[in-house]
Amino acid sequence: MRRYTRRVTTSPAPRPRRRASASSTSGAAPDAARARAEALRAEILDHDRRYYELAQPTIGDNQYDALVAELRALEAAHPDLATPESPTQRVSGRPAEGFAVVEHREPMLSLGNVFGRDGLLAWHQRLVRLTERDDFGFVCEPKIDGLAIALVYRDGRFVQGATRGDGGRGENITPNLETIRTLPKQVKAPKGKALPAAFEVRGEVYLSKAEFARLNEQRAEAGEQLYMNPRNTAAGSLRQLDQSITAARRLDLFVYQLGWVEGDRPATSHANAIAWLNDLGFPTNPLAQRFATIEEVATFCEGWAEKRSALDYEIDGVVVKVDDFALQRALGVVGREPRWAVAWKFPAEQAVTRLREIQVSVGRTGVLTPFAALEPVFVGGANVSMATLHNFEHVRTLDVRIGDDIIVQRAGDVIPQVVGPVLAARAGREAELREFRMPDACPVCKAPVEHDEGEAAYYCSNPDCPVRLARSLEHYTGRGALDVEGFGEERCATLVRLGFVTSLADLYALPEQREALLALEGIGPKTLDALFANLEASKRQPLHRLLIGVGIRHVGSETARALATHFGTLQALREATLEDLQAVDGIGPIVAQAVFAWFQNERHLALLDRLVAAGVRTDEEVAARGGILDGLAIVVTGSMERWSRNEVEALIKSLGGKIAASPTKKTSFVVAGDGGGSKREKAEALGVEVIDEAGFVERLRALGWGDD
Ligand code: IVH
Repeated sequence: MRRYTRRVTTSPAPRPRRRASASSTSGAAPDAARARAEALRAEILDHDRRYYELAQPTIGDNQYDALVAELRALEAAHPDLATPESPTQRVSGRPAEGFAVVEHREPMLSLGNVFGRDGLLAWHQRLVRLTERDDFGFVCEPKIDGLAIALVYRDGRFVQGATRGDGGRGENITPNLETIRTLPKQVKAPKGKALPAAFEVRGEVYLSKAEFARLNEQRAEAGEQLYMNPRNTAAGSLRQLDQSITAARRLDLFVYQLGWVEGDRPATSHANAIAWLNDLGFPTNPLAQRFATIEEVATFCEGWAEKRSALDYEIDGVVVKVDDFALQRALGVVGREPRWAVAWKFPAEQAVTRLREIQVSVGRTGVLTPFAALEPVFVGGANVSMATLHNFEHVRTLDVRIGDDIIVQRAGDVIPQVVGPVLAARAGREAELREFRMPDACPVCKAPVEHDEGEAAYYCSNPDCPVRLARSLEHYTGRGALDVEGFGEERCATLVRLGFVTSLADLYALPEQREALLALEGIGPKTLDALFANLEASKRQPLHRLLIGVGIRHVGSETARALATHFGTLQALREATLEDLQAVDGIGPIVAQAVFAWFQNERHLALLDRLVAAGVRTDEEVAARGGILDGLAIVVTGSMERWSRNEVEALIKSLGGKIAASPTKKTSFVVAGDGGGSKREKAEALGVEVIDEAGFVERLRALGWGDD
């Protein structure tokens, strides 16, 4: 697979390119060489981030390699330019910092595809012909759209995990896989049986749709570019050199195959092998089923083609496997595909339609995002007339032109995407096609557009741009921030358009304009009074919500909490130096710099002054230091009604409590929602108190929560 091993390439430095060889002295580097090396490093790191973290590369492998080659040549010509942190050091010399290569003992195969019943029956006919029998059983499993991995266990311990790579060699990503909670780190033999000395298990790592949505919400909150789809995000998350990033993404796993075994194989059929793996504690897909006839198999596949969107993870088909291992061996492999298994692929959720126009929207931070306005087309169960194009670089990479026939794709709940132009459809229509250019002026306020060289993003330069303000207002009043009910997208836009709000702080002056607001359509006195009451209540929200609300780049809910808890008051945060910010747990240099810069800006300080004058609260929960749950260890399990589990956990932490993963004798109590089965049982067995969500709220109230 392309670029998989780029961090561990050991090829010698290529011949210096012209730019570098022109000054191949060994004395101190001239300023121009130094500046160029710094620019190259920044650019390479940025491309690494796009490739590994966002899974959205904006340049091809050759261009990337050329950048690294140029930097390497510069450093070779001017040794004083080389630094241990340089990307060249990671690429060439120190594999330990990249991913080591793992040779798979047995190749990781791919699958042949069939589309529909006829294809499946033809596959079955071939099996019947080859084996001269037709009495075999099949196992059907959803085909998870994630990333294939191979896990090695020795003496019951997880010792190595690798990506599929090119099927023969993958990347060693053991520490990353260790962050997956559902991946067993240690397994025990079932009662009365021995565990093989070592064995390999294969499966698929994926990101659930819910988790994908959560990550994107966080990114939207922090004003960061959204991830494209769960699969790419899962892939990018697994290939992080920094495992804390992988851990934060909450990946999941299904195992679907027993690989090689040292010692006796514990099963003679796939279904039994999966049952054995399940007994050992591996997550196996509960939807898998065994069937005795190919007709039943076809019905199962058709059923899931209809119901796929109901699952919380993406599937792109059903894998059908001959159950019996002896038969599997007899059927063997052709090329890279086993004869004994096949993928029933669901119809691609793609369609061809005309790209009418490329338009540009403006976000809260002023970023301009191009999107495709399409001739409406039915795809993936919905009518689609718009699709995202992410950024200008992406439009260039796709090489789509206005007027093109393009392929549009809709995967699950994800925003429709443009896959690319239908090149063959261009013939004879060249004159109708137009290349897209990013506008020089904001499409809304006409202010000049700014663009930093080397950055993908273009910005509207006007901080008072009405769309930016409307979006900021929407964000400020949104559920993740100050949570003022009644300020939806449309209302925010109206308030800005009609001049009721010209700065976020005007929000709290709205009650002074009661009469004028009553004249607006759709706002009666009752609605208005409710809005005002909600506004008043929002002033009592803790500091971290204010920090989210004002929209500081890179500051989503987790960072905002970290800042608010650390500094306690807005004033302390305003006075913080860059060093103070860098010292906050969980805050890296880039975020610290962004926060510091935000608080240096006079406009921002004036906004805060006005918000404070309006009566907005400027401290974090009093309980955050010396809280009502101080010293308590609490387990949260199951799903809640009023809050998500994350919210309950965040609340407990903000009140001084500690979250424990599973009950022990030291656990103070367990908050159990629906479905918190095994932890509830364990707590009960240990005599630890279990309360439900309502009981938890009562407990908090009794301790004085909500009295501030
Ligand atoms: S079996 C020889 N089972 O599909 C059998 N694969 O196109 C090889 N996949 O690389 C794999 N769900 O990443 C198998 N239940 C499942 C699967 C599955 C997803 C993926 C896997 C593999 C690709 C094959």
